[in-house]
Formats: sequence, C-alpha cells, structure tokens
Amino acid sequence: MTINNSSLYFHPHFATEFQWAKKYNLRLGLVTPDKKSKISQGLRNLSHETIRFRFMGPKKEFTKSELEYLTELDGNNHFALGIEEVNGRERGVAIVRMVKSHTHPDVAEIAIVIIDEYQNLGLGTLLIEAIILAASEREIKTLSFSFLPTNTTILKLIQNVAVAELKTNTVDMVQYVYQLDKIDIKKIREKIAQKLPELAKFLYKF
Ligand SMILES: CC(C)(COP(=O)(O)OP(=O)(O)OC[C@H]1O[C@@H](n2cnc3c(N)ncnc32)[C@H](O)[C@@H]1OP(=O)(O)O)[C@@H](O)C(=O)NCCC(=O)NCCS
Repeated sequence: MTINNSSLYFHPHFATEFQWAKKYNLRLGLVTPDKKSKISQGLRNLSHETIRFRFMGPKKEFTKSELEYLTELDGNNHFALGIEEVNGRERGVAIVRMVKSHTHPDVAEIAIVIIDEYQNLGLGTLLIEAIILAASEREIKTLSFSFLPTNTTILKLIQNVAVAELKTNTVDMVQYVYQLDKIDIKKIREKIAQKLPELAKFLYKF
C-alpha cells in the first residue's frame, strides 16, 4: 500500500508539546533513529515488574541491533509514538509501538510501556487511543495485544478504551484484539482532542 503522508495525522514529522496533569511538560512524537540512547536509558527507569509485563521476562539492556529495530522505522509496517520530558530531565516517558504482521498486513501487534513514575496518570490510555487513530490511517483492521495473564492493568485499560475480544488464552499468554470497524474512530479522535487541546484544531480537520 502506498501512503500519502500529507493525509496522515501521524505523519513522519509529527511532534507536539503538551502539558499533562497540570504539571508535566511533555512531547509526543514519532520514534526516530536519534532516540537510541533515550530508549536505552529508559529501560533503567522501569521497575522489574514493568519490564516483565512489557517483555514477558527480564531485560537488562538492548543490543545494537535491537536498538536499530526499535528506532529505525518505516512508519507504516512498524510505527511507534513516544512521549518524552521537555525542559526537565528530558527522559523518555512512554512508547507505544505497532508492528504489522508479515503474513496478514491488516493485522498489527501493539506493545506499550510507561516508565513507573508516570503510570496511572492516563498516558497509557492516551497512547492506546492515539495508536487506534494511527492504525486507522494505515488501513489496519485488527489490533492485537498479547500479554501475561496476570497483567490486569493493560486488560482493564484496553477494555476501557474499546471492545476487546479474547482470541488466545494460555497459561503463559493472553491475546485480545480490537476490530477497528467496531470502533468509533471519530469518538476516539474527539477524546484525544479533549485531552490535548493543542492538537484539537488539527484533529478536527478530518
Ligand atoms: C499498562 C500500562 C501501559 C498502563 O499505562 P498507564 O499510563 O499507567 O495507564 P492509565 O493511567 O491510562 O490507566 C491506568 C489507570 O489509571 C487511571 N487513570 C486514567 N487517567 C487518569 C488520570 N488522569 N488521573 C489518575 N488516574 C487516571 C485509569 O482509570 C486506570 O485505572 P484503573 O486501572 O483503575 O482502570 C503501564 O502500566 C505499563 O507500562 N505497564 C508495564 C508494561 C505493560 O504491561 N505493557 C502492556 C503489555 S505490552
């Protein structure tokens, strides 16, 4: 599929600064190749439990090739949005990524992580809403979330955002999916616009 970048909300140069919870100055933007060291350092701001939930096991550091994989993205088959601090410690705060299936290009797997200090502030919900919007722009029909069966936080979060259907249920892993044709994308866009008034003007253009 050829993507016309001018019609994308989350186009290759997308980035915006915003204030969150009346005290955090943050930037939301696409993950770019220059974020390698921020992503490496970000791992150190995750608790063991957060790492286990994100990677389904321990993770001490990323290899060079893992960092290339995580940051050198084509924005279509592999797309990621990151949040980072502005005017402060400049830490990486969160990443949501969407990777299309090689065999079923209208299906994409989602992975998300927020550093512990910024959890429970609504950023996870915002990023899941944003990734739904980005997926709808990339002709994706199904978003898949695979996680540990004990990870009730992500389950509650995705169920709060939209209808999530259980697809796989084993002792090691559960998989839930969103079918995008069952999600009201306009409503998702409005929710993002309410949370990020800085973006509202642009969002309503569609
Ligand atoms: C799962 C994860 C991404 C959730 O991110 P988060 O930013 O903490 O999620 P949210 O803040 O949007 O939602 C979590 C809770 O905060 C609440 N919340 C949402 N907005 C809020 C706000 N403005 N103020 C206070 N609380 C808020 C939500 O209602 C939710 O509460 P609930 O669990 O009682 O329903 C995060 O916990 C994480 O990184 N976990 C480890 C990695 C992981 O599990 N990834 C998923 C598998 S890939």
